[in-house]
Amino acid sequence: MAAMHLVASDPLEAMTAGIFEAAGTPADLAAEVARHLVSANLAGHDSHGVIRIPAYLQQIESGRLAADGRPVVVHETAATAIVDANRGFGQVGAAHALQVAIGKASSAGAGVVSIRRCGHIGRLGHYAETAAAQGFISMIVYGNMGPGTGLTAPFGGARRHLGTNPWSFGVPSGETQPVVVDFATTVVAEGKVQVARAKHAELQPGQIVDKDGHPSTNPEDLYAGGMLLPAAGHKGYGLSLVASLLGAGLTAEEVPDNGVGAGVVVMAIDPRAFGALETFTATIDNLSAGVEAVAPAPGFEKVLLPGGPEAASRASRRANGVPIAPDTWDVISGAAAKLGVAVAPLLA
Ligand SMILES: NC(=O)c1ccc[n+]([C@@H]2O[C@H](COP(=O)([O-])OP(=O)(O)OC[C@H]3O[C@@H](n4cnc5c(N)ncnc54)[C@H](O)[C@@H]3O)[C@@H](O)[C@H]2O)c1
Repeated sequence: MAAMHLVASDPLEAMTAGIFEAAGTPADLAAEVARHLVSANLAGHDSHGVIRIPAYLQQIESGRLAADGRPVVVHETAATAIVDANRGFGQVGAAHALQVAIGKASSAGAGVVSIRRCGHIGRLGHYAETAAAQGFISMIVYGNMGPGTGLTAPFGGARRHLGTNPWSFGVPSGETQPVVVDFATTVVAEGKVQVARAKHAELQPGQIVDKDGHPSTNPEDLYAGGMLLPAAGHKGYGLSLVASLLGAGLTAEEVPDNGVGAGVVVMAIDPRAFGALETFTATIDNLSAGVEAVAPAPGFEKVLLPGGPEAASRASRRANGVPIAPDTWDVISGAAAKLGVAVAPLLA
């Protein structure tokens, strides 16, 4: 594996925002996207960080992504809303939808918001962390499906039909860290295959199959017609299917005639609607401490709370810099230079 470059997070974020501004994104939206991408790198999820810049630029160039698309609420009730992201950045649409959901939860106890015409929303845990920091429970889900639509075969199927269809849940706490559960419903997220490919690394067995359905550990096989496998067989498949049914069903304007659909759903719950906030957060602290105190199994140091690995990565990468594969760095620093944006310095 090639040695990684190290870049400090603040200049990396400034460079990322500069790139999107230069590509036609208003400064406030570019800042939101840059914050999201670098926060994914800080959290240790490089698959959803700055590695995405070239793909987003390509989507802007091809007209698929509207660099200046601003989300708007197009329909609402006391506890629900539909946001139209106007083909803009998913990070911008989802951040807006989350605040709409939190606003509804503040007044109605819970808020459910769907998002249509939305770009890639990035790392879902980002929104769950944001909601938890504001004292709200959250659920964020994205799903897409249809013949040839995603890279995943349904359980028992031998063709691509589902996306990686991730779910995230966030639970605010008092003294302990918030619990943030955030994962794709495939054994491995596609972005992680991209990262392995960029590093010229092998995948773990059981994550992908090649175009003929044979097990493979070579990331290139996925991009040569292969498939991702659902996590835990029929169970991951079920979660993946419901992600798509909710996303597509709650954003549909007309009935699809070919089994193709996609969308995002964001939910916020105000714990205060169920009792005193202090009782809720102290209960979460108590339960979380209990699970963390479980004796570790052989080979494990300790039981972690979901969200813990990301918090640890954030602390370390803020202090020491964000590692970026040289191939990835060449592409994104090249894009910055081409657009006249100052390239962030590499750390020694
Ligand atoms: N926008 C999209 O379309 C899309 C699609 C797929 C995935 N994603 C994102 O990709 C990212 C990676 O997904 P993934 O499936 O590879 O996630 P993953 O397998 O890395 O799992 C991450 C989750 O598991 C928890 N976790 C990890 N190790 C743990 C441990 N030892 N004990 C307890 N909890 C632990 C983490 O805190 C986190 O909640 C996610 O952020 C997801 O939102 C986005």
